[in-house]
Amino acid sequence: MDVPADPWWKHAVVYQIYPRSFADSDGDGIGDLNGITGKVDHLAALGVDVVWLSPIHPSPQDDNGYDISDYCAVDPVFGTLADFDRMLAALHDRGIRLVLDLVVNHTSDEHPWFEASRSSVDDPRRDWYWWRPPRPGMSPGAPGAEPTNWASFFGGPAWAFDAASGEYYLHLFSRKQPDLNWENPQVRAAVHDLVRWWIDRGVDGFRMDVINMISKVPGLPDGLPGTAGPAQGLLADGSPHFICGPRLHEFLQEMHREVLAGRPEPLLTVGETPSLTLAEGRLLTDPARAELDMVFQFEHVDLDRGSTKWDRRPLDLRALKASLARWQEGLADVGWNSLYWGNHDQPRAVSRFGDDRPAFRARSAKLLGAVLHLHRGTPFVYQGEELGMADVPFTDIGDFRDIESLHHYRDAVAAGADPAQVLAALRVSSRDNARTPMQWTAGEHGGFTTGTPWLAANPDHVDVNAAAQRDDPDSVWAFYRRLVALRHHEPVVVHGDFTLLLPQDERVHAFVRRLDGVELLVLANWSADDVRPDLAAELDEGQWRGAPVLLANLPDPAPGFELRPWEVVVRVRRPG
Ligand code: NOJ
Repeated sequence: MDVPADPWWKHAVVYQIYPRSFADSDGDGIGDLNGITGKVDHLAALGVDVVWLSPIHPSPQDDNGYDISDYCAVDPVFGTLADFDRMLAALHDRGIRLVLDLVVNHTSDEHPWFEASRSSVDDPRRDWYWWRPPRPGMSPGAPGAEPTNWASFFGGPAWAFDAASGEYYLHLFSRKQPDLNWENPQVRAAVHDLVRWWIDRGVDGFRMDVINMISKVPGLPDGLPGTAGPAQGLLADGSPHFICGPRLHEFLQEMHREVLAGRPEPLLTVGETPSLTLAEGRLLTDPARAELDMVFQFEHVDLDRGSTKWDRRPLDLRALKASLARWQEGLADVGWNSLYWGNHDQPRAVSRFGDDRPAFRARSAKLLGAVLHLHRGTPFVYQGEELGMADVPFTDIGDFRDIESLHHYRDAVAAGADPAQVLAALRVSSRDNARTPMQWTAGEHGGFTTGTPWLAANPDHVDVNAAAQRDDPDSVWAFYRRLVALRHHEPVVVHGDFTLLLPQDERVHAFVRRLDGVELLVLANWSADDVRPDLAAELDEGQWRGAPVLLANLPDPAPGFELRPWEVVVRVRRPG
């Protein structure tokens, strides 16, 4: 058995904390580091091995901290470096590691690097960002004079005009998030320095924000006009020119060599990589290439997307199963998967993939947990997922805080869309669904703050909260604890190979994991109907009938393969 030689993160479950919304210790309505320190026992009780903390650094908070103005400090809204050290010690004392968010595709426009870069065309830092003159023959600042036709992810052009120098700077996200120019070796060295700084302070790894966008195609070619969605007119999707650009692998290998390699204890690196192909995923996570340990690929969370993220279409379970299975197989011999249903950018998993009606909410939340955690890879639990937290009944545009949602509303309504329909789309797809306060108790604001929360708590906190679930052996929380423990105790969960069964079944997700003669059979009914999958062609039902149940979300599972609505059953067979 090769288990002891594995890097620790292959056996780990990661828990993501979005600090603004986790726990507020000082009553200002915004979560903070001392709030997290006060809740470490929640994490320890869940049994997770790692916390991934979304950005905590000084920031104008244009994109809730993903716009950083000082990488080596803590934003006062979240606390101080001393608070950070205390939080880290509290986590480490409980055997929990800490992974920080490394946001280095862009900085804030209030970062001193950008302030210097903007100050003059002759400043030594001018070339640290992407500055370009207007399109030839066009007047500076005129509509359409942007150097390329790329749309920003948050609406409008990806270029902002700077009247002082008569040039534009590139910002793939908001205009307050200028893109760093990784072609410049000084930029890369500065990034390496800040990564070292946090490693020296004791952190155990990094989640790297949109890391597959750091290399742009030289010359910055235009995209195909009109491909940025109906609210964006003639602007284009420029992503073919900056997703996995020509020097991405070189830049990551360099960072690995310069900063991450040779540490006494391996660090965990996970790259956020939108629009990633499996071929690129294999390259990025191949240990022999020394780039990243794992990636967040987006294929499965893009399956219900229409022409834009605001246009949701029904999810076909067959496509979801096929996608997950393809990545399982694709990274089986090289690389490693990260496994996730949600994070701070995605709607709540139980509302999106499960069934959040009262009768099925807890049951389907458990089913989703079981399916995900029994795949091969490192599972990520987003705060509140372990309680089955659901999407929010937003009623008014004033209920939203997210820059992406607010800009989309502005642009779509300006382009003539019906505001009620735009709101309906936001209700389904807005990132704010994931960002409402963590639901600790049935009390005011879910026990998140004694003040006024920056984003209102989901009214369902009176029923769905940690206090109500902690001592209930039947709760989603209790089920997640079992899932985490299972990964720690059953090598087949970590290392077993993966075989998808019944790929064409529209309601049943069935797969087998096998290692050294141990077999797990996972049967999950993604529907509100009773089902009886026909597995005769793929399994010997006689061998499995009555096999011990390792985990189930309902009492008394049938001895055969019958499944009740949203039921999941995991059975095990051992050699001998
Ligand atoms: C991905 C982050 O997860 C998201 O929240 C952010 O808006 C963008 N990257 C830009 O940093």
